[in-house]
Formats: sequence, structure tokens, C-alpha cells
Amino acid sequence: MRLSLRAQAIQESAIRKLDGFVAAAPDVHFHKLNIGQPDVPTPAPMMAALAHADSQVLAYGPASGLPACRQAAAAFHSRTSPGLGAEHCVVTQGGSEALLFAFCALCDPGDEILVPEPYYTNYNGFATVAAATVVPIRTSLDDGFRIPPNDVLDRHVTPRTRLFLFANPGNPTGAVYGESELRRVAAWAKSRGLWLVADEVYRHIWFSGPPMSALELEGHEDHVVVVDSTSKTFSACGLRIGFLLSRNLAFMDRIERLGQARLGPQPRAQNAAIAALTLPDVFYDELRSTYRARVEAMMDALAQIPDVQFHRPEGAFYTMARLPVKDTEDFARFLVTEFRDHSTGRPESLVVAPGPGFYADPARGRNEIRLAAVKEPAVVRRGVEVLGAALAAYRR
Ligand SMILES: Cc1ncc(COP(=O)(O)O)c(C=O)c1O
Repeated sequence: MRLSLRAQAIQESAIRKLDGFVAAAPDVHFHKLNIGQPDVPTPAPMMAALAHADSQVLAYGPASGLPACRQAAAAFHSRTSPGLGAEHCVVTQGGSEALLFAFCALCDPGDEILVPEPYYTNYNGFATVAAATVVPIRTSLDDGFRIPPNDVLDRHVTPRTRLFLFANPGNPTGAVYGESELRRVAAWAKSRGLWLVADEVYRHIWFSGPPMSALELEGHEDHVVVVDSTSKTFSACGLRIGFLLSRNLAFMDRIERLGQARLGPQPRAQNAAIAALTLPDVFYDELRSTYRARVEAMMDALAQIPDVQFHRPEGAFYTMARLPVKDTEDFARFLVTEFRDHSTGRPESLVVAPGPGFYADPARGRNEIRLAAVKEPAVVRRGVEVLGAALAAYRR
């Protein structure tokens, strides 16, 4: 039986590709620096809200989310972007659904989405579902993944271009766009009649200064859309609660319709999100010091490995590292299938995310990998030490 072209085109998750090899070697201790799944405990008030059942039936909730949850998210964002109300925010099933809804509401089949690359690999999947095309704009580790000047951006625009998408802080780059860079890109997008979709799911994890939210940009109310999530900030990836925000009410009205088609997000999960959104400021200070220690451990350990270049993240908890190998897909397979470090008495190896998965053209990023500093500093450090030993063995 025939499957749709869309189903045939949908990519396999670059990050999960190696899982089968890992499962086949249960005696090996793998340091999993490949996925952004933190081991930080989810805040206790969220757990308590999840456990609290106040009805006998798990009923549907409103399509755009519980009014109290929308209000809590709007109030939370209003701290830095005043004037937001519940009408400017819908609750989604993770930031993933917010992205999918944004693409569906903004793109017709064949339309184009500009995105600085390397970029979060699942943008490809959402674009495929929305029948849109991702058009990458090259950025490089050599200059900290800065967005290129406007004349370069202009060269990527066609009559089908609908939006400029970016993650700030970035996954996989860890780059944070400064205020002037953000204002410049926003002004450029506006002048070209493009929507600006800011994926801000890592916004509260920063090390050199808080990233500005695109919702703070005055004069851009009509074309700015922001994606937020409880997954990383509150270490609640399994809660599946995210938010789509915009001051453009015509856009929000269409998002409400999209939400109606899939009925509402899980109400009890939204109660946990409300508990998260009212945590005190000290929570965020602790969040940043937790990830700062993990990222520093990763940087220190990487600096010990010869011939490896990497970007010191300004936010999020990832780094792209350039390795002295020709093909990191092959190297990543070598790690899970062949390489075993016996120096501590038990066989150890490592799982990494090969670079090509973060590029539109898989011929790019072949000497890069993404590492995630999501575990305790000592675990991250040991994982990167194993990487050093594996590189030495692979190059022999
Ligand atoms: C940049 C970025 N956007 C969106 C998401 C989706 O997050 P979720 O659907 O868990 O909210 C992720 C997850 O890793 C991400 O890294």
C-alpha cells in the first residue's frame, strides 16, 4: 500500500539513530551526552500539583488551555514583556506542538522557512508535516554562530519565504543573540514582510547575560511569535506543556482553531505548569548555577583534548565541537559499537549526536558533534574524558 510523500520524506531522528546499538550492549556503561534530557529533579510543587486529583473524571480541557494556565503564562512573560494577557497565549503539548502550530498557521505548502544553521533537527520534521521547506542560513563555530549580515540574509529570500525562525539561546550551538543582533534581524524581517518566530525554550538558562525575548521588541507586535516550554526550564520534558505567544490576535485566533481540532492539552499537566510559573526568583538562580557547573565541566574537559575546537555556550546546555575526524557519523558508530574504555575496570563508552543531523544538507557538519551537559559535572567530565580516549583510538 502506498504511503504519502510526506510520510516517506519524514526524517529519522538524528539523535535517536544510535539507540539500537546502545540497547544491544547492556554490559557497557554509556555516557549519554547525546540528548537534552536533564536529570535535574522536577520542582516539588509541580509534582504535588500533578499528584493532586480534584475530580473523578479526566475530562477534556479548553482547546487553548485552562484560562488559569494561559493567565499564568501571560503574567510570567509580562515580567519582561509588559501588557500580555491570556488572549496572547495558548497552551500547547510541548514547545514541539507550538512550533508545528506556528508553521501550519503561517505556511502554505511549498512555503519556505529561513533558519540559521546548525539548527534543532526536529524543525525538519515539523516543516515536513506543514509541507513547508526549511531554508538554512549558514552560521559558523568560527565566529560564535552569529547571524550573517542583511545582504546575506537577503540572498535567501524568495517569493515563497514566510518566516525567519531562530532559537535563542540556540540548540545545538549554545549561542545567545544579543539585543542589537535581535533588533537588527527583527527590523530586517519586518522590512521583508516576514514573520519572526523565536524559539525561546532555553531562555532562562544563560551564563553571560539574560537573552532578550522577541516579545520585548516594540514596533514588532504584529509579526512576532514566541515558542516557550516547561521542558527544559523546569526539567519537565515528560509533562508535554509548552506555550505559543503572540500579540497578533488574528494569528492567535487561528491557533485556537488548530487547537480545537486536537482538543485541549492535559488539564492536570497544566496545573503543574501553573505551579512552575509561580516559582520564586531563587529557582532561576539555582537553575543557572546548576547548568553553569555542568557546562564548565564540559568546557574544562574538552580543553584537555588535542585538536578539538568548540564554542563556549552563552546559554542552553549544548556545545558544538569540531573534531579531528572526517566523518562524525562513522565516529559516533565506532563509539557505540567498538570503542570500550576499560581504565576504570568496567567497560565505558559514549553516545554523541553527530553534526550532520543539525544541518539541512547532511554533507555539512561532518566533523562536528553536539554534546549536552545535562548530567552532574563529574559525569559530564568523565564522559568527555572517554571522548578523548576514543578519539585517540579512532585516529590510530
Ligand atoms: C530548540 C528546541 N525547541 C523546541 C524543543 C521542543 O521541546 P518540547 O516539545 O519538549 O517543549 C526542543 C527540545 O529539545 C528544543 O531543543
